[in-house]
Amino acid sequence: MTTDTTSVPYWDPYDDDLRRSPYDAWRVLRDDAPLYRNDRYDFFALSRFDDVLGASLDTEAFSSARGITLDTIGRTPELASMIELDPPHHDVLRKVVARWFTPRSVAQLETRIRELSAGYLDPLAAAGGGDIVAAFTARLPVMIISSLLGFPEEDHDSLREWSDSQLHRADGEEGRSEAALADSRALHAYYLDAIAQRRKSPRDDMVSDLLVADMEDVGGQTRGLTDIEALAMILLINVAGNETVARLLGSAALVLSDWPDQRRRLIDDLSLCGNAVEELLRFEAPSPVQGRYVSRPIDLYGITVPEGSKMLLLTGAAGRDERHYPDAHRFDVTRTFDRHLSLGYGAHYCLGAALARLEGRLGIEEMLTRLPEWHVDPDQVEYVKTNTVRGPASCPITF
Ligand code: HEM
Repeated sequence: MTTDTTSVPYWDPYDDDLRRSPYDAWRVLRDDAPLYRNDRYDFFALSRFDDVLGASLDTEAFSSARGITLDTIGRTPELASMIELDPPHHDVLRKVVARWFTPRSVAQLETRIRELSAGYLDPLAAAGGGDIVAAFTARLPVMIISSLLGFPEEDHDSLREWSDSQLHRADGEEGRSEAALADSRALHAYYLDAIAQRRKSPRDDMVSDLLVADMEDVGGQTRGLTDIEALAMILLINVAGNETVARLLGSAALVLSDWPDQRRRLIDDLSLCGNAVEELLRFEAPSPVQGRYVSRPIDLYGITVPEGSKMLLLTGAAGRDERHYPDAHRFDVTRTFDRHLSLGYGAHYCLGAALARLEGRLGIEEMLTRLPEWHVDPDQVEYVKTNTVRGPASCPITF
């Protein structure tokens, strides 16, 4: 689709060109249509940093409990995970799982992350290059999450394929394809089976732990998770933890090739890699759009957004807001920040933030130390086709 994205406020979440390169369109939205209305797909969007921040914090007006992706907002989810619930119900479920994701808990995964990275990157270096997404960035997170959940290694590739496929959206399509629905069913069946097995004989893993954990319900009752609540939690952790990290590290390969002076700074001082992850999250947000249901009329920029509207919070646009970040379109691994919104903000702040940061930092360190300085031709990079996650689906590198 050809749209003049340089002057007319227009953004289409299903347009392939805009998925690849949304930043001009988002700049026009921030400048000229900070409350953007898209009639074709019936949604509003906020793109300025302050607006995305404010809406993320206001869970009463901007609810997650009626769907968080454009194709589902307005419907009450069949299988609500905590990301699709508002406080206080959300907070009860989050407490059950939070201890697995503290910086201290995830730090134990460092050796495993480094070993896996070496196993994926060394052959890529020996081969003189190849698709770094297929070889490395899409593999690492699923191995880490699936190990953390307690699933055997021989199942990890199928788990990744089902997870990727269920997020896939064809060009111009709002809903999922038949194949994506079938893969989603396969993933559910796998997890339900794992839950049943662990109910019978618990193991030393997160799924078993979830099944025996007590939680204090909103009504004050103490009870354990039902099978369905456990399933929703596992599905959420798996999907949220795989796709996003795969895209973060894929974008790292692309951006560091585009900005060789910044890559050189990192090679000279690997201690900057932690900050480089924050800058990368700001610069190329892997989860650039958060959907919300407007639960009461809201006045914004002189317009009343009616109750029941679909609102998209453009986190990816907020990361490039010149009002908040000086020289916002420059990638600078030494940039100092107060914050970014790319891991969400408020009640739904990313549960896996510490793990995402660890995998990001170690993944980048291992790329820098194991690969010669690589080159990416941006025209050869393909982007994932989803309306939630953004980043390379494939990214060929050469040396
Ligand atoms: C670069 C990697 C990642 C990015 C960019 C990312 C981004 C986000 C964002 C933007 C949200 C907020 C969603 C909303 O407000 O609707 C979120 C929530 C969440 N993320 Fe992440 N995430 C990443 C990695 C991970 C990992 C590794 C895990 C898990 C293991 C994870 C698990 C979750 C969960 C469970 C939530 C929901 C939290 C809640 O509702 O309280 N994420 N993430």
